[in-house]
Amino acid sequence: MYDTKVLSSEKEDLEIAAKLLLDGEVVGIPTETVYGLAANALSSGAVGKIFKAKGRPSDNPLIVHLSKFSDTEKYAKDIPDLAYKLAEKFCPGALTMILPKREIIPSVVSGGLSTVGIRVPLHETARELIEIAGVPLAAPSANISGLPSPTAFEHVFSDMNGKISAIINGGNSSVGVESTVVCFEGDSVRILRPGFVTAEDISREIGCEVFCDKGVLNEVAADEVVASPGMKYKHYSPKADVTIVSGEFEKFVEFMSAHNGEKVYAVVFEDDLSKYPYKAFSFGNSPEEQAALLFSVLREADEIGVEKLYVRSPEKSGVGLAVYNRLLRSAGFEVISV
Ligand code: TXA
Ligand code: MG
Repeated sequence: MYDTKVLSSEKEDLEIAAKLLLDGEVVGIPTETVYGLAANALSSGAVGKIFKAKGRPSDNPLIVHLSKFSDTEKYAKDIPDLAYKLAEKFCPGALTMILPKREIIPSVVSGGLSTVGIRVPLHETARELIEIAGVPLAAPSANISGLPSPTAFEHVFSDMNGKISAIINGGNSSVGVESTVVCFEGDSVRILRPGFVTAEDISREIGCEVFCDKGVLNEVAADEVVASPGMKYKHYSPKADVTIVSGEFEKFVEFMSAHNGEKVYAVVFEDDLSKYPYKAFSFGNSPEEQAALLFSVLREADEIGVEKLYVRSPEKSGVGLAVYNRLLRSAGFEVISV
C-alpha cells in the first residue's frame, strides 16, 4: 500500500516525480488524450508494477512515450520513411506508431511481441517530465483494467490511490480518447485503434492508403490472433449496462418512453437535451466534444448509481469513429436501431 502523493505540474514537483520514476516507481501522469500510468520503460521491474496496479493481462503491450520523435531510433529499428512522414505532421500528438523494437526495450513492455508502440505526447507536462527523467516512459491508460479510461485527475485518484507512488494533477485531458494506434504495411497505414488523428487526416496529409483493421468495428474471439492485443479485452465498461441506439431523435424519444425507468439514463446530443423529456447526460454536439465527454459521462453514471444507459450513436467517421469504437466496447457490442 502506497501513501500516494498528489503532485502539480510545477518544475519542483516534476523533479520529485522524475526521481520516483528513476527509483522504479509508478506515477500517474496527464496527457492530452487520457491520463497514463507511467514507469521507466527500460526497467522490467518498474514496468511490472504498472501491470500489478492496473490488474492488466501481461500479454497486452504498453506504449513507450518519448519527448521527441528523433529518440525513436534508440528504441525501434527498420523505421519506414512513412513513419517519419507521419511524425512530421502528427508528432507531438495523439498518434502511436507500432515499429520493430530494439533489444533495449524489455519484453514485459511489448507483451512478448517483437514490436513497440511509440508516442510523443503533446501535453507539456508529460514531455517535460520525460525530459527531466531522461528515460522513456511506458504508460497505459491510468484506469483499473476494464474500466473507462481516466480523463481527469479525480478519475486516476479514484482508481489508483494507494496503489502507486504519486499522481500529477494536470487538469482535464483535452482530447478525451486514447491515441490513434497505427502500424505500417508497405506503403499503407493500418489503423488498429482509431483516435483523434483520423484516417481522413492521415490520407489527406500524407496521401497514402489508410485502412482500418477489422477489430475496430468488430468483436474478436478471445482465442483469435489479433494485430493489437488490446482489441480482445473487455474495455471501458462502467457498472451501468450500456446500449448504443442509432436512429433519429424523435424515434429515440419514442423508444425511451417504453424503456425508461428509475435508474435509466440516456446520453443525448447537447442540442436535443432541452427537448428530451427524461433523465439524460449531455454528449456535446461535435465528435470532438463527444470524445472529450465520453469517459467522464460513463464514470459519472456509475457515481450516481445508473443501471441502464442508452447512448445515441455517434458518427462513424472522423473523430466520431474513435468515440464509436470505445462505446461499442462499453456496450459489449450491443447496438439497437430505432
Ligand atoms: O493515448 C494513449 O495512447 C494513452 C496515453 C496514456 O498515452 N495510452 C493508452 O495505452 O491508451 P493503453 O495501454 O491503454 O492502450 C494501448 C493500446 C492497447 O490496445 C495495446 O494492445 C496497443 O495499444 N499496443 C501497444 N503496443 C502494441 C504493439 N507493439 N503492437 C500492437 N498493439 C500495441
Ligand atoms: Mg487502456
